[in-house]
Amino acid sequence: MHQDIDRILEDARKFSAKTKEEVEQFRIKHLGKKGVVADLFKRFKELPVDQKKEVGQKINQLKQFVSEKIELMLAETQDKKAVESQMDLTLPGPPLQLGSRHPISIVRNQIIDIFGRLGYTISEGPEIEDDWHVFSALNFPPEHPARDMQDTFFIEKDPDVLLRTHTSSVQVRVMEKEEPPIRTISPGRVFRNEAISARAHCIFHQVEGLYIDENVSFADLKQTLLYFAREMFGQAVEIRLRPSYFPFTEPSAEMDISCQICGGKGCNVCKYTGWLEILGCGMVDPNVLEFCHIDSNKYTGFAFGMGIERVAMLKYQVRDLRLYFENDVRFLKQFQAAY
Ligand code: DAH
Repeated sequence: MHQDIDRILEDARKFSAKTKEEVEQFRIKHLGKKGVVADLFKRFKELPVDQKKEVGQKINQLKQFVSEKIELMLAETQDKKAVESQMDLTLPGPPLQLGSRHPISIVRNQIIDIFGRLGYTISEGPEIEDDWHVFSALNFPPEHPARDMQDTFFIEKDPDVLLRTHTSSVQVRVMEKEEPPIRTISPGRVFRNEAISARAHCIFHQVEGLYIDENVSFADLKQTLLYFAREMFGQAVEIRLRPSYFPFTEPSAEMDISCQICGGKGCNVCKYTGWLEILGCGMVDPNVLEFCHIDSNKYTGFAFGMGIERVAMLKYQVRDLRLYFENDVRFLKQFQAAY
């Protein structure tokens, strides 16, 4: 009898049911009036007294196991049914929350795209720089007051290590490494020791442009910048070049675009001038070419540099610089990335 009970228990363990009906059959087979357990109890009565205790316990364990298994199987088959009846596998899933591109990235990508169409490559340089690439090779003599135009973060222990204040440092690196013709832009982060306000930040982004070849003239610079302004702000935009000073260009100029808000008539954004300043530019100073081992008798070139935040401000009319750095999703998700 021991062996019979073990075998029945083993079979019951292995059994699994897919439907309620199969569970019911299992129940009748084991616990029904003429079922396995009832049959075992019948045989139990015939047993000699000394075996009754042990066999009785075994039958009861089997009965308990089977009852628990039936309950479990019933719950499982019901669960499956209930879930299946509520589930429509043809429905689309819940929508994924997509992020959006940062406005500074959008504008940077658009600038890269515009100059890419003119054949400009992209160059990058380090953010932690040395005096040579940020100042000396760009014709800032030591102790020259022009160095104060840009408030610089220095490393205390070594005055030769600094955070770049402009991406013009990348032009030096490119000219040192490559032979003309050179046509490249350098987007990147720059750092200045400025108090943070709506109009100034200690970190911002610039794009530097550089074109060196034989017979490059100021007319080429002007036409390139006009093309850029029209692509960026629309064909109706006008540009104006004002004489200016940068140590690394001669002559130097600053470029204004006609105010996008009042169309040049004058408003409080353009301070009633009709113009908005957008970038600095000029013909690369022959000293800079020579510092970078480029023959200034053979080659000429132009350079320009613009702040990406500045372009973004003009494009999106967002006039508080801090918004670009605060990572507030409510602000960031308003910008549609075409680039
Ligand atoms: N590096 C200048 C700045 O950060 C911008 C600039 C002006 C870049 C004139 C140029 C340039 O390449 O020719 O203010």
